Amino acid sequence: GKGQHRHFMLKEIFEQPEVIGGTLNTMLNPAERTITLPSLPFDLGVVNRVRIIACGTSFYAGSVAKYWIEKLARLPVEVDIASEFRYREPPMEPGGLAIFISQSGETADTLAALRYCRAHGQHTLALVNVPESTISREAEATLLTLAGPEIGVASTKAFTTQLVVLACLAVGMARSRGAISGETEAEICQALAEVPARVAEFLRRDDEIRLMAQGISEARDVLYLGRGASFPIALEGALKLKEISYIHAEGYAAGELKHGPIALIDDSVPVIVICPTDELYEKTASNVQEVVARGGRVVFFSDQEGVDRLASPPFAAMALPAVNPFVAPILYAIPVQLLAYHVAIAKGTDVDQPRNLAKSVTVE
Ligand code: M6R
Repeated sequence: GKGQHRHFMLKEIFEQPEVIGGTLNTMLNPAERTITLPSLPFDLGVVNRVRIIACGTSFYAGSVAKYWIEKLARLPVEVDIASEFRYREPPMEPGGLAIFISQSGETADTLAALRYCRAHGQHTLALVNVPESTISREAEATLLTLAGPEIGVASTKAFTTQLVVLACLAVGMARSRGAISGETEAEICQALAEVPARVAEFLRRDDEIRLMAQGISEARDVLYLGRGASFPIALEGALKLKEISYIHAEGYAAGELKHGPIALIDDSVPVIVICPTDELYEKTASNVQEVVARGGRVVFFSDQEGVDRLASPPFAAMALPAVNPFVAPILYAIPVQLLAYHVAIAKGTDVDQPRNLAKSVTVE
């Protein structure tokens, strides 16, 4: 049941400290601060190319993983939407690794892409939340998210647990290629170990997000901006909002602002900015200036340092707990989930069963 929560979505959002912790426990050794991946039927150390294929929110988890794996393991990663990949008939060198991310493990396009990759000599790895699912059965190996059953059509805890597994996978790949120092691995492990507590800390401020949502529920369009690994979080935020509140929302790479979307900015368009203090902070902060200068209503998610450093005051700002930038995408997923939830509540839409949507898309 929903327990004390009004909707499954809210219950699942609040379960995240626990399920993130449980998923981490399957791979993280907190004392040694190392990652141990389950044994795989192929050698990650010799893989020279990675493809990640998924749909919807799972695709955004894969998009974050591209930044992580390229950075830590120095391996080229291509991320594809399954429905595009499967009909493109992409040429593939044998021996690559193809990763399929799917909460349900039953998404038709993702399954078709898996079959295509197997037939083209790729090693296949499933990342699913349902162990006995078709995608898990047909892949050579499976990694599991321990999110527990996800009932809300809008994916929340499946997404953050996917991110956790992908972060561990990036570290494991980096180590098997000799691309990461013990010191960096220890720092990342420490940061990962702290994520459940940081998420729990942030969830206690749900009321602040609820108040922010009041100002957004009247909007017709909402823009989400982020750079680097925060870009897929912007995309995920926009998807969450449109799915459950029916407000038109778009995620953009902050650097693309000048290439088109800035034309949309006026005081009726809220611009949600995902901006942890990482090496790209200054770049995104200058995009914020451009939006504020045009009267845009910026809602700024950063940490205290990032909020303080911002030159012109945004419409609204929220300081999240400071974390190692590597794990920021996991933490910053939470405000965009809660924001979508509270906007939908303000609008009175059916949060758990949004119109026209199915939990599992088993036909294309
Ligand atoms: O079960 P899957 O992860 O394969 O599902 C993929 C998408 O259908 C899913 O993430 C969808 O986009 C959600 N409704 C997003 O909230």
